[in-house]
Amino acid sequence: MIEDKEFIFLKACRGETTDVTPIWFMRQAGRYMKAYRDLKEKYTFLELCKNPELATEVTLQPLDVLGVDAAIIFADILLPLEPMGTGLEFTAGDGPVIPRPVKNLKDIEKLRPVNAEEDLGFVGDAIREVRKEISGKIPLIGFAGAPFTLSSYMIEGGKSRDFTDTKLMMFEAPEMWGLLMDKVCTMLVDYLKMQVNAGAQALQIFDSWVGCMSPQDYEKYIMPYTQRIFLELKDTGVPLINFSTGTSTLLDTVTRAGGDVISFDWRINLDTAWEKIGYDRSIQGNLDPTILFAPIHVIRERVKDIMRRAGGRPGHIFNLGHGILQHTPVDHVKAVVDMVHEYKHE
Ligand code: CP3
Repeated sequence: MIEDKEFIFLKACRGETTDVTPIWFMRQAGRYMKAYRDLKEKYTFLELCKNPELATEVTLQPLDVLGVDAAIIFADILLPLEPMGTGLEFTAGDGPVIPRPVKNLKDIEKLRPVNAEEDLGFVGDAIREVRKEISGKIPLIGFAGAPFTLSSYMIEGGKSRDFTDTKLMMFEAPEMWGLLMDKVCTMLVDYLKMQVNAGAQALQIFDSWVGCMSPQDYEKYIMPYTQRIFLELKDTGVPLINFSTGTSTLLDTVTRAGGDVISFDWRINLDTAWEKIGYDRSIQGNLDPTILFAPIHVIRERVKDIMRRAGGRPGHIFNLGHGILQHTPVDHVKAVVDMVHEYKHE
């Protein structure tokens, strides 16, 4: 039985010294695991998310197999889109589809306010169930999409390469963009607070696609809203993780947007990134997910390189720069956990 304040993941989030470096993975539950694929024979992805018992089962699947230092609740950043009224579908192979995307002022005005307890209560129920199973062993992370990444799905109607419609809304109709972001922020703060009330012990805000922005447009159209999220969540008292990818050249701006922990991908060396971010923040990253397919000796080399660059400084959480890819060998993921836990700083 470990006391909450002694969990190495939470200590590292707070910048405190730990005996070993904590490690967890984004998408640590999912298709690369047989137990997950077996469940997917019987249930759709959305069914797994909306049934607290099944979501609990999936959340727990990787924990003992991998020996990670944190669990993340099984859900999806796009779940709030259903109660907001845009619809949400997952088609095999194509990823998410939003059937009624937000294209004009009328669409934004039509968006429904979300009551997280009522409309997304299944996420809260799953969090409570998972906490019952893992309390005293490892902490649980809750999450949501960041205002930009979530809005980009609402506007584009699915995944996008260029984010043309999203950027055009900023450039052509900034007041419309502001209205959308305001609605999304209100929903997100309520949803994330609900997760903390249910038992989430840290929160990760996924701004997966914000790396498509120029620094000045990030600052003008995105920073105020991301800042608002981090500010309004401060009084929850749980550590807040600011996750993004493709932001190596935006790290100072991303850092100013907020978060106790700044997560970055593999397109920058860890020591260079931490210096830019500042040593007053904790950091998370930064292994390329593709490395997990490589031979073990290559993986070991890369893990050691990251650990050496972190230099034993308190506040490093080992993770990938993005989620675990489909078909990743499970034993390689497990090997990375052991390498990180066994690493000795010189
Ligand atoms: O990390 C975890 O283990 C928790 C679960 C989790 C999922 N999605 C499950 C999932 C988390 C944290 C997410 C976040 C999420 N969802 C993000 C941000 C993180 C990132 O990857 O950038 C985004 C952009 C989404 C939206 C989303 N959901 C996409 C683009 C897809 C399709 C991805 C693909 O590879 O097909 C999903 C579906 C999804 N979310 C799956 C899982 C396990 C696969 C669904 C399946 O089983 O077919």
